[in-house]
Amino acid sequence: MTTHHRLILLAFASAAITAYGADAATNWTDSCAKCHGPDGKGDTKMGKKLSIADLSDAKTQAKFTDEEAFKSIKSGRTDESGKTTMKALEGLSDADITALVAYVRTLKK
Ligand code: HEC
Repeated sequence: MTTHHRLILLAFASAAITAYGADAATNWTDSCAKCHGPDGKGDTKMGKKLSIADLSDAKTQAKFTDEEAFKSIKSGRTDESGKTTMKALEGLSDADITALVAYVRTLKK
């Protein structure tokens, strides 16, 4: 095998890792589940307080596009009075956020 081929293989391997989003589930558990719950149902103390929508419900999932979800995760969310309900997450790359959006879509039952 030539060096050239090895480089191409390496590029594929790292792209596969990114696309797989190995960290999305971890990010969800660490940063999202305290409000949304591990299954996205929002059956948590915080979720109840914020009367959070059930992300496992197809109707909820239909209410936002991937772009809107991305923006919510990147910039946070405020209610009508401007109060922050979901904080913008620090330290997530755009790729992490894209992976989280994909993860959120898997919560739909
Ligand atoms: C402090 C509580 C809290 C945390 C932590 C939180 N959220 Fe949310 N999230 C909310 C609230 C409140 C809403 C908006 C109310 C609703 O529709 O349920 C929301 C809405 C959403 C939506 C719907 C987006 C839209 O545009 O309607 C998505 C997707 C979402 N959150 C994903 C996440 C992800 C991914 C994380 C972790 C990175 C996260 N949330 C962390 C409280 C939280």
